[in-house]
Amino acid sequence: MSAPYEFLKLEIADRIATVLIDRPDKLNALNGKVIAELDRMFTELSARTQVGAIVLSGAGRAFVAGADIAEIATASEGPGLQDLSAFGSRVFTRIERLNKPVIAAVNGFALGGGLELALASHVRLASESAKFGLPEVKLGLIPGYGGTQRLPRLIGRGRALQLVLTGGMIDAATAATFGLVNAVYPAEVLLDVARSMAKEMAQQGPLALAHAIAAVTAGADLSLDDALALESKHFGELGRSADMREGTRAFLEKRPPTFRGE
Ligand code: COA
Repeated sequence: MSAPYEFLKLEIADRIATVLIDRPDKLNALNGKVIAELDRMFTELSARTQVGAIVLSGAGRAFVAGADIAEIATASEGPGLQDLSAFGSRVFTRIERLNKPVIAAVNGFALGGGLELALASHVRLASESAKFGLPEVKLGLIPGYGGTQRLPRLIGRGRALQLVLTGGMIDAATAATFGLVNAVYPAEVLLDVARSMAKEMAQQGPLALAHAIAAVTAGADLSLDDALALESKHFGELGRSADMREGTRAFLEKRPPTFRGE
């Protein structure tokens, strides 16, 4: 890895990378530097063949309590809020389009940019004490890192607008009912459960994982006909891979496959 990270911690074991946002005194609020580090971290992890899947979580009592309000308050004097939003959005989209699975283990507050970061992840798991919300209206703002777009696509427009327009928080059980998180666990097992799901994913063919993410993510914004054509294209590309030959042969030979990502 390159230069050290100031606000991120990385641990790699059993082909699973755990990325911890580590700014607990500010409830892991996302300033420009944290977002730039996330960009660099995910770019590096994407290229590391020894990493099969990624778990993203927060240090302390928050996942991420939002974009850094102190930075937002002064942004109009600097690059401006539109630039800030475009930068965060670009980084979160890079995460959403990564070539390997990202599981958000939401350990506490996931507010504003924190919820948006979880929304850009492929799977969301929550601790019982997690809290979710888009409080931007309380600041005279709207969500700026994809919240107005990814949340309604995930949970439907009515429920999304409830969160966007009230700025209020919901607890983990409600988030599960809304389909915002896949499942809720006691805080002390959350990371273990997330890592074990990541491990199950990382055992699959890396090319298949990358194509599956691309098909699901890009397909969600297309008409059904176009999305089905996109699926066929990815299916066909995998058909030319050594991993597909290995996976099907291993099944027929009743042995576990050895995928090489080729
Ligand atoms: N940006 C910058 N700093 C933040 C922050 C954010 N989004 N969220 C929390 N912090 C800071 C607080 O200012 C405080 O710093 P200080 O100790 O230097 O004063 C520290 O983190 C702890 O937060 P605090 O508010 O004291 O904790 P709490 O338990 O009383 O409340 C929250 C927790 C999450 C309800 C509250 O911090 C909050 O509402 N945060 C902002 C959420 C938000 O609006 N996010 C969207 C931003 S666009």
